[in-house]
Parts: sequence; structure tokens; C-alpha cells
Amino acid sequence: MRQGCLQQVTDVAWQWTASAYLGYPGFRPGAGAVGEYNGKFMSGQMSLRGGSAFTPAGHARATYRNFFAPEKRWVRAGLRLARDHAPAERGDEGFAAGVIAGLSAKPKSLSPKYFYDAAGSDLFEAICRTPEYYPTRTETRLLHDIADALVAGWTADTVLVEFGSGASDKTRILLDACPALRTYVPIDISPDALHAATARLQSAYPRMNVVPLVGDFTQALSRPETLENRPCVGFFPGSTIGNFSPDEARELLRAFRHLLGTQAQLIVGADMVKDEATLHAAYDDAAGVTAAFNKNLLVRMNRELQGDFDLDAFAHLTVWNAERARIEMHLVSRRDHVVTVAGQRFRFAAGERLHTENAHKFTPESFAALCHDAGWAVARQWISPAPAFGVFVLS
Ligand code: SAH
Ligand code: AVI
Repeated sequence: MRQGCLQQVTDVAWQWTASAYLGYPGFRPGAGAVGEYNGKFMSGQMSLRGGSAFTPAGHARATYRNFFAPEKRWVRAGLRLARDHAPAERGDEGFAAGVIAGLSAKPKSLSPKYFYDAAGSDLFEAICRTPEYYPTRTETRLLHDIADALVAGWTADTVLVEFGSGASDKTRILLDACPALRTYVPIDISPDALHAATARLQSAYPRMNVVPLVGDFTQALSRPETLENRPCVGFFPGSTIGNFSPDEARELLRAFRHLLGTQAQLIVGADMVKDEATLHAAYDDAAGVTAAFNKNLLVRMNRELQGDFDLDAFAHLTVWNAERARIEMHLVSRRDHVVTVAGQRFRFAAGERLHTENAHKFTPESFAALCHDAGWAVARQWISPAPAFGVFVLS
């Protein structure tokens, strides 16, 4: 790997990296013209790395970051064809292993974290716009109503860390309510969604230091340097917590506490138990957007793991599991057939289900108990009018 980097440094072309050209952690724009210049021009750009055949000797190095003005003839633009090879950076190092294990299990199941390739992230955004999917609209409205209370006590030193930030739309409500805030760390498994959101946010809030982190928050995340000796607030909206079993959710909340520090606050959005019809409609919208989101998992396996899933051989199914207070999504095989994926063959019987997601729903009591078992206490809570959605501040 290291050898590969060095070889590319002395190669013929600069490399685009997946990093935005942002200030290093702790960077503060200077006062006056320099700060204004940095805020205006050192943003909305991506970093280059290395050097080119035209770079003066001694200037090319693996850690060299640069950007170029188009009228200068220092950069030679070209096209480099490369095999997609960054599983660790994409947070899906174990996709093949996860698929093989999940399709070998009885009943067959896959983690919902695999939904979020670029198309999956776009489909999730489209779900949020369907009339049936109430959680996004309801939580957004609630966050607007309570924003001032949420940001009370935040200072310019506070670091906001978001888990599963996606499009970072709800974040804007907090940033608008606390203009003093300077540092935001969005964490997401979907690099495309994360980098697009970072670029949008950086240009809308040029004075913010946005430090994106691509990663799987269920795996040990190394504590970003930006958080050192700073007050931290975690933000985990969208009821993404509901996509984990109670045991997994406890582990996750403990891990967030470890990452943020014991003095931190964590703001969590959690969807509440409600009537079955509302839930079924939200997860099986009339336009079929959620069905497409579910089936995109098959599309992704076909593309990334050389699968031969026939999309028409599966139907989208939602099930309300009252005992576990969760709405489940499945893909049901319409016929008896064999699929090859990740180099292995898997038989699907007619009617057999592939379980793709759980969305647990809470009561204020069940949510408080979960937090308590994970070492957090509910300091404040707000529950929206029907359809009920909760925002909880944990400390
Ligand atoms: N917070 C946004 C998006 C919620 S969708 C909102 O409230 O609207 C869930 C987000 O979590 C997606 O962007 C998805 O890519 C991300 N995600 C899911 N599992 C993840 C994991 N294990 N690690 C990191 N991000 C994850
Ligand atoms: C991201 N997560 C909280 C969504 C949910 O409601 O469980 C994902 C989703 N699945 C189907 N629709 C939306």
C-alpha cells in the first residue's frame, strides 16, 4: 500500500483524493483579509495529492495538498482509470463476508447498514419526501420548535458530532440556532452522501470547520483529534437507533459515550410506537420508493459481489412485530430458485424471506430504560403530537 502511494507520487498525474480541502483540526480563520480569503476560497474544493510529471523536483510528496487556479498551466488534467479499491475507507470491508454469513443463516438476514451505497442514500432521501414517511417531517418540525433549548450552553468551543449524518439537513437547524458553533464532525458509512453533504454545508456555512469521517460507527471509531479537550455534543437523529436490536443499541450508546467523553450530551431522535396502519404505510409507500430502497440491496450485491439476483423474483414485505415493537422489512422470494453471489450459491424457496431491516419503535419508558442500561440518563425529552416522535437529551 505504502509502496503504491510512493510510486504514485512520482507518477505523471496528481491524484484527486476523497477529502475536501478543509482546514486541519483546530484551524481558525485569521482576522481580516487573510481570514476572509481562506473562508471564501479555501472551501468548496477537493484536495489533490502527490505531484505530476511537471511538478518541480522536490515538490511532489504523498502528504502534499494543493489546489490550482485554472489559468495556471501547472496542472495537467487527465483521466486515470483505476479499479475501485477502498473497502476500508468505504466502511464496507466486510460486505462480502457479511453477505455470505447472512445468506447462510436461517432465517436469511442482512444488516441494514448495507443499504447505504450512493443509490441507497439517494433512495433514503426520496423516502423522506414520500407523504407516508412521517418521521423526517415530524422530527424536523420538533427540532425547529426546541432548537433554542437544545443549543443552550453551547459555545464556539463546542464540537458537534453526528452519527449517521446522511444529508445533514437536520443539522442545519442546530447550526442556525447556534451561530457561535465552529466545528462539526459528521460520521457516515456512505462516502458519497457524506462528501456531498460536507460540500453543501461548507458552502452554506463558510465559517464552520466541517470534519467528515467515513466509517461504520458500530466498529471501533478512533477518536477524532478535533474532539480533544473540547466540550462535545453528539447528535443521533432520524431514529437510526431503532435499526438496532436492544443489545446492539445499548452497545452503540456505550460506544458513543466512550467516543464523546463522559461529560458530553447526546441528542437522540427516536420514533414512538403508534398504530399499525401508519407504520405499514410509512415502510411500504404507495409510490414504491421504500420497495426500491429494499431491492437496491440486491442491485448492490449484483454490482459489487458479482451477484445474479433477479429483482422481479423478490417482493417487498413489511411486518409489524408487536412483541418486539418493531416494523420489519423483508424481501420475499416469489419462487424456488438459486442465486450466486460473492462466489457462492444460495437456494431461496418460494415464500422464503430475506430479513433486511428492523425499525424499533419506543415509548418514553422503554427508551429511558435502554439509555439507563447504556450508562446515560434522559435529562430532557420532547414528544411531538401524533404521529409521535421523540427527541431526547441524554447526559
Ligand atoms: N441522520 C439523517 C439520516 C438518517 S438515515 C436523518 O435523520 O435524516 C441513516 C444514516 O445512517 C444513513 O446516512 C446511513 O448511511 C448511516 N448509517 C447507517 N448505518 C451506519 C453505520 N453502521 N455506520 C455509520 N453510518 C451508518
Ligand atoms: C434510517 N432509518 C432510521 C430508517 C427507518 O425508518 O428505519 C430507514 C428506513 N427504512 C425504510 N424506510 C426508512
